[in-house]
Amino acid sequence: MSHEAKSWQFVCAIDHLSHAQCLEFELSAGSESVDESHNGFVLNWHGEIFAYLNSCPHTKVSMNWAPNQFFDIENQMLQCGLHGALFEPASGLCIHGPCLGQSLRRIPLKLENAQIFAEISQ
Ligand code: FES
Repeated sequence: MSHEAKSWQFVCAIDHLSHAQCLEFELSAGSESVDESHNGFVLNWHGEIFAYLNSCPHTKVSMNWAPNQFFDIENQMLQCGLHGALFEPASGLCIHGPCLGQSLRRIPLKLENAQIFAEISQ
């Protein structure tokens, strides 16, 4: 039997994010669900909200090239700022670049009262 307890961390209000907007968020101290050296980011993609660990599968560096900037210039794909790998926003799958076929690590979310919460395993 697993003793893993899940809790939820507030990220932001859902109306804070419009289509193709991203927001970085800090992961709570003590979380074991993710790599401790990275934070997460949420994004709105055509009205759906997704969250990933901010860690490129290629070298594990943070993905964004400026604060809260994860999309390519055409706002179609998430793009790693270091070597330019492209990821599908809704799946996190790399479709171009040195980590082709690998995926960003998904952070489960729940929406409650128009607020976004990220799942934390402790
Ligand atoms: S570190 Fe992201 S593509 Fe190389």
